[in-house]
Amino acid sequence: MAKWKVYVSRKLSGNALERLKEQCEVEVNPNPRPPSREEFAKAVAGKDAIISLLTDKIDASVFDAAGNSLKIVSNYAVGFDNVDLATATSRGIIVTNTPGVLTEAVAEHAIALMLAIARKIPQSDKYVRSGFYSGWSPDLFLGTQLEGKTFGIVGLGRIGFSAARRAHSGFGMKIMYSDPKQNAEFEKEFGAKFASLEEILKECDFVSLHVPLLPSTRHLIGEEQLNSMKPTAYLINTSRGPIVDEQALYKALKSNKIAGAALDVFESEPALYPGLSDLQNVVLTPHTASATIEARSAMADLAVDNILAVLRGEKPQALANPEAWEKRRI
Ligand code: GLV
Ligand code: GLV
Repeated sequence: MAKWKVYVSRKLSGNALERLKEQCEVEVNPNPRPPSREEFAKAVAGKDAIISLLTDKIDASVFDAAGNSLKIVSNYAVGFDNVDLATATSRGIIVTNTPGVLTEAVAEHAIALMLAIARKIPQSDKYVRSGFYSGWSPDLFLGTQLEGKTFGIVGLGRIGFSAARRAHSGFGMKIMYSDPKQNAEFEKEFGAKFASLEEILKECDFVSLHVPLLPSTRHLIGEEQLNSMKPTAYLINTSRGPIVDEQALYKALKSNKIAGAALDVFESEPALYPGLSDLQNVVLTPHTASATIEARSAMADLAVDNILAVLRGEKPQALANPEAWEKRRI
C-alpha cells in the first residue's frame, strides 16, 4: 500500500494507532483537547483519511479543506450526528462509525446510572465524604427498588436490547419498548411489551433513551412528554443530549414532576443547562458511557480497520453512508 496520509483528531487509547502507523503516514492532534476549526482545517489538507471524534463537526468546510484526496472519515463513535452525511455522500466520501464494540459498555453505564439515581449513590457518597454521617437512620437516603419495576426502552437497537437484557435478567424488571420495528423474539425472550412512546412514558418507572440523534428525534422528550411520566419515574439518557429538551427537563426536575434523571449527555455539552447541577434529583456523568478500556480500544481498532479496508479498496465493516460506496474516490 502507498503511504496514505491520515489525520487523527485525538490520541486514542489502545494499540490501534500503532497499527495504522505501520501502513500510513499518521498525524495525531498533539493536544489533550479537540482541535479548533482552524487547526482541523489545516491538519486535514491533502489527507486521504480522517479519524474524527464526536466533538468534531465534520461538514463541507472540512471536506473543502481536505480537498480531493479525502476518501474516508472514520468516526470514532457509534453515533455520527456530528458528520454531514448527505454532503459526504454527494462527494463520494465514505463515512464509517464504530457500532457493536461499545454496546455492552454503554448498556452497563445505563444500568449504572439507573442504580445510581434509584439508590442515590452519588448523593450518599458526597454526604459521607463531607462528614455529615452521624449515625444509622431509618429513612436516610431512601431509594427505589428495581425488582418488579418497569424498564422502558426507547429505541431497541443493540444498546437498548443489551440494557433491557440486564434490567430483566439481572434485576427482575418488566420490560416495555418502543421502536419503529417490533421484535417478536425479544418479546418472547424477555416477556417484553411493544408500546408507543406515549405508553412507555405513562407506565414505566425508568425510561432509558437509546435512539440516534436525527431531525425526527431532536427533543423527542419535551415538556408534554415529561408531564406524562409518573411523578415517581426516572429518565436515563446515554444517547445524545438534544433528544431531550433540557430546559423542559430542568423544569420537570425542579418541580418534582418526575422523580429524577440520570444523564450522560447534554444538549449543549460540555455546557449544562443553568441550575441543572444544583438539583439533588439528578446524576450526571461526562459522556463516559462507552469509556471502558475494552470498548475504547475496540473502537480505536474498528476505526482503524475501517480506514485500512477503504484504502485497500474493500468495503468497510461499518459503513454509515452505503450510498457513497458506488461513488467512492478510490
Ligand atoms: C458515543 O457517544 C458514541 O456515539 O460512540
Ligand atoms: C449501536 O446500537 C451499537 O450497539 O453499536
